[in-house]
Amino acid sequence: MVSQNTAAGECDVLVIGSGVGGLLTALKAARLGRVVVVTKRAAMESTTRYAQGGIASVMDGSDSYAAHVEDTLAAGAGICRASVVEMVVQSGPRAIRELMQLGARFSTQHDSSALELGREGGHSANRIVHFKDVTGREVERALYAAVRAEPRITLLEDTLAVNLLGGRRSVACDQDAAIEGAYVMNAEGGITPFMARVTVLATGGCGKAYLYTSNPDVATGDGIALAFRAGARVANMEFVQFHPTCLYDPAGSRFLVSEAVRGEGALLRNAAGEEFMARYDARRELAPRDVVARAIDQEMKRRGDKCVHLDVRHRGVDFLRRRFPNIYATCEEMGLRMEKDLVPVVPAAHYMCGGIVVDVHGRTDLRALYAVGETSCSGLHGANRLASNSLLEALVFAENVVADIEARGMPPMPRAAPPWSAAGTTPSFETVVLDHDWDAVRRLLWDYVGIVRSDERLELAAARLGLMREAIEGYYWRYRLSSDLVELRNLALVGELIVRCARFRRESRGLHHTLDWPQTSSEFQGDSMVSRFAGPSLLGTDEPLVTAAGG
Ligand code: SIN
Repeated sequence: MVSQNTAAGECDVLVIGSGVGGLLTALKAARLGRVVVVTKRAAMESTTRYAQGGIASVMDGSDSYAAHVEDTLAAGAGICRASVVEMVVQSGPRAIRELMQLGARFSTQHDSSALELGREGGHSANRIVHFKDVTGREVERALYAAVRAEPRITLLEDTLAVNLLGGRRSVACDQDAAIEGAYVMNAEGGITPFMARVTVLATGGCGKAYLYTSNPDVATGDGIALAFRAGARVANMEFVQFHPTCLYDPAGSRFLVSEAVRGEGALLRNAAGEEFMARYDARRELAPRDVVARAIDQEMKRRGDKCVHLDVRHRGVDFLRRRFPNIYATCEEMGLRMEKDLVPVVPAAHYMCGGIVVDVHGRTDLRALYAVGETSCSGLHGANRLASNSLLEALVFAENVVADIEARGMPPMPRAAPPWSAAGTTPSFETVVLDHDWDAVRRLLWDYVGIVRSDERLELAAARLGLMREAIEGYYWRYRLSSDLVELRNLALVGELIVRCARFRRESRGLHHTLDWPQTSSEFQGDSMVSRFAGPSLLGTDEPLVTAAGG
């Protein structure tokens, strides 16, 4: 028998993931007891770190909460939860002030200490609080430093959550079943049950389900897969946001060129040098990003081009170097000078608007399990996220989750879970098979479940993914687990959830655009809900997202 079992651990609050949502939740939860953050690579290697644009928040008198709410609802295409949108928008200034107190720096205007507020697609005002073009990196730096200085927090890097403990594992099972921590895998492959009174999922998105993505390698949808397998509902997985402008690199990597570049006046041109956005939308380059991404996709397909171009030459080198130092340097590495050259760009998978269903407190369907940030579906984004609302959501929900744990009182420590059993598994597994399946899943999603969909492509995707998932589940039960296998299993499950929700929604709305159902239909005015026991089914936006004991 192969043993992957190592000594067990326990804590009051177990946070899985180390982006802005995870680190801020941990910091706040430290006042309630011992906190452990597990993160599968280095702590700073989160999707947050790559967020360029910033944090949307109403910060001056020329803007208003009502306008930010209206822009968010408009982008969300009729299925945002208005009460959640209002709560998040109104919490923005407090969240920004708190980050500043924690040491995060934000860009200020040339001639004063007032914040420099950027503009992005879909926003009717300048309200993007940012630090140059590396906002996520700066926020992550400040939070990481604060976490390291907090003695009640233990940070376990290179530690991957394999499965949640407890939960609802069958239809017959107690609906109120609690989550009791997780089995986690260390860098050597040892697997430990980690007991916790409360578990918080903050694992970010699942951009790696697609061949081309702006997301880092860690974005394999782990939280969604863990919660789904434990019996929590997941919603709106069809709403995958494609960022319109990632740097086109024939080798495949997709570096983000922030929407803020268009906010500073960049134009989009096709390969013939023609401006084209006016043909697609009156708001041109500052239309919401689903509109811009579809326009680019259509323009590339119409002309048979591999990319389009951003033209920001008129802003001059001094401005570009100061405002976009990271983008400028990356372009320069590719031999491009933004003040002289057009920048080749393509859309790539960027953000998952759906996820684990949570209420305003971040409670999931399962007791003692919360979720924050991109891994969750809170009702803020609806069918399409407004630019720079994501860091905002994670900051606000970190506060709500910890306030809720405090208000309800910490549940008792669960009984020790059995050690991990690797009985019946064999040690070796050919890496080439995993690599092949990894690429196959990502190509399938990119080709068949991309920016524009059709019934036929979705049907093919469902059939092929079903076979791949069956094979991957087989490896999971037969072979000694590796982190690659755990991630592949999660990625394939998340891919299947995207396809299931996309097939269910027989309309086009927000980010879900299908050739066979090109209109928005009032029949689908709601969230597509799916669990391992039922669905997909539709939940109206006037119905509460979480009704069970939750949290
Ligand atoms: C960007 O900088 O364009 C990305 C911002 C976001 O995804 O909210």
